[in-house]
Amino acid sequence: MDKALRSLVDWYEKIGVDVPDLVPSIPPRKKRSTSTPPTAEATTTPTRPKARSERPRPNADIIVKAAKTLEELHIAMQGFDAGALSDGARQAVFARGNPEADLMVIGEAPGRDEDIQGKPFVGQSGQLLDHMLAAIGLGKESVYITNLVNWRPPKNRNPKPEEIEMCRPFLDRHVELAKPKVILLVGGVSMTALTGMTGIMKNHGQWQDIQIGGETLPALPLYHPAFLLRQPALKKEAWRDLLSLRAKLETL
Ligand code: URA
Repeated sequence: MDKALRSLVDWYEKIGVDVPDLVPSIPPRKKRSTSTPPTAEATTTPTRPKARSERPRPNADIIVKAAKTLEELHIAMQGFDAGALSDGARQAVFARGNPEADLMVIGEAPGRDEDIQGKPFVGQSGQLLDHMLAAIGLGKESVYITNLVNWRPPKNRNPKPEEIEMCRPFLDRHVELAKPKVILLVGGVSMTALTGMTGIMKNHGQWQDIQIGGETLPALPLYHPAFLLRQPALKKEAWRDLLSLRAKLETL
């Protein structure tokens, strides 16, 4: 997105103005005169920026397979045309933490702070997530954090199923290269996308085997910290889930 437009959108968001999803603008076609027959010049198609629906879809499966390291995967992601998602975001949000950690945390999608900093979970909910993990002895060196979707959805809405599907090859390759032993699914959207189950209220804290990155890995659904910030009474349940996570990591 153009820089001046980006700062205008930021300003609108800051002051609470509802900003519509931005689509690349397409100049209107010239109207043909009805009196004179069209000249050869008038009949040639005018060049205009391609609307995102017209752009050829890059094949993420092929792109990710070519990435042999996490760094290459990050570069591939930065250059990927994710259509409306990457059009509306500042940058791709890849990961933070220790890629060699046993635990990989998979959140939902970047928000505003993550879009600005290019790292997942760096805003208010990220701070709570860090505190929660630190409470069971997992500092920044013991976790590797990423998201289901790598570009900030407009207006922080939940990612759509087709956006999750588009980003899935990146997630699978990410797991394949980082080789975590345990997955923490943060939030209902991540849980549903990776387990098929719905309802975080009834399924949080229940270990599941999930297929990811060509492996079957144990995964624990956890309440999203943004949800816990709104529902602090649920922190007690989240604490029990965190203890279960610690116990699992101790068995490795
Ligand atoms: N919420 C998420 O799920 N992921 C982030 O990176 C930030 C907020």
